[in-house]
Amino acid sequence: MSGKRKKGGDLTDKGDDGVEELLGALFEGRGAQQPASLEADNPLAIKLKARIEQAGPLSLHDYMEACLGDPEFGYYIAREPFGRGGDFITAPDICQVFGELLGLWCVQVWRELGQPRNGKLIELGPGRGALMSDALRAASLVPEFLQSVEVHFVETSKALRAEQEQLIKGQATEHGRDIPQLFWHDRLQDVPPGPSFLIANEFVDALPIAQTLFKQGQWFERLVGLDEAGHFTFLLADKPCPDPDGLSLISRPAVEGDIVEHRPGATILLEQIAKRASAHPLAGLLFDYGYDKRAFGDSFQALRNHQFSDPLRDPGLADVTAHVDFASLSHLAQELELTVAGPVTQREFLVALGVRERAAQLLQGQQNMIAAGQFMTGLQRLIEPDQMGSLFKVMALVGGGQPQVPGFRSPLRDQG
Ligand SMILES: C[S@@+](CC[C@H](N)C(=O)[O-])C[C@H]1O[C@@H](n2cnc3c(N)ncnc32)[C@H](O)[C@@H]1O
Repeated sequence: MSGKRKKGGDLTDKGDDGVEELLGALFEGRGAQQPASLEADNPLAIKLKARIEQAGPLSLHDYMEACLGDPEFGYYIAREPFGRGGDFITAPDICQVFGELLGLWCVQVWRELGQPRNGKLIELGPGRGALMSDALRAASLVPEFLQSVEVHFVETSKALRAEQEQLIKGQATEHGRDIPQLFWHDRLQDVPPGPSFLIANEFVDALPIAQTLFKQGQWFERLVGLDEAGHFTFLLADKPCPDPDGLSLISRPAVEGDIVEHRPGATILLEQIAKRASAHPLAGLLFDYGYDKRAFGDSFQALRNHQFSDPLRDPGLADVTAHVDFASLSHLAQELELTVAGPVTQREFLVALGVRERAAQLLQGQQNMIAAGQFMTGLQRLIEPDQMGSLFKVMALVGGGQPQVPGFRSPLRDQG
């Protein structure tokens, strides 16, 4: 895919210490991306067709899970999706200030929590590792924070793990910075216990969805089968299923053809977060594109080479995602006794953290006009409402010590 003010106790009040370091870091180069290759047919399509012929249509959930995570041919396992040469570009790859502000957010929350030791700085789905690299660079302004945390990544792709390690350690070495120990895990439940600072950018949208469709007064699960020509096609289950969860959160009754989406992996994720929060303080941020009121609709989509494509074509070769339903996440999180802040738009959040003031400070004295122009273009992409600013939302989840979380308590609305 892809408040201009200072306020008491917020990141912008931490003084100007370290701005020079941030300025230097701001223009660190980023590696070029490999172009994605194109194929007319592919081994995952063959594998899934054989599975359907043998055992019948797949649930949409299982189809999406295979597209993204098939151990041999899944999109995140077998491809290089990121950057200009890939299929999409994410916020940390667009502008380094994104990760830097999140690093400072973690430092601030750590202070609010009384500077606990043995903290776990956790990132879910770190992609290329750019967000954490930028966050660690900004957080190095407060060495005591970095000395008191370990970094834990939840990442299923072995290739991306290697890329993350190379980028983060490489940038730290190049700039002579110490970084905490890095660990990788397949699942959040494998991260050792401890006070947690958790960040996830565009992770939830990669968790598979199921869909149910309303037909003649009943709900039917949507499946993926084969048409007469042997191409993937949407089907409905023969038998109706129970009413989907969360219908009461939708503002109108269902009519013929309405679709409801459900994300089982997000439920498991929130349960795991709540479990961690029940044992140790926790504060986390979930960034994603999505909607803040539960609604009917089909948001299953595919992106390939920065273009939308048919999600039933070429499984494993395109990024398949669906919008994140923040209303349901918030509802469930509160049921699990987590405190929820937001969701607010990415624009509101970054502006409340002082992204514009920080950018102005960083640009002061910058001689390289081309780099400065690129930086401003990237920044606008993150916050402008017609770009990522409004579609992307962020929600904070807090448990334990109930710290005030920066970015969500601004009494002033952004004036644009
Ligand atoms: C869209 S990318 C987000 C990249 C990164 N957060 C960024 O902002 O650039 C999704 C990331 O989550 C990882 N991922 C996808 N599904 C996962 C799962 N079920 N468990 C762990 N990691 C997963 C992918 O390998 C990838 O690193």
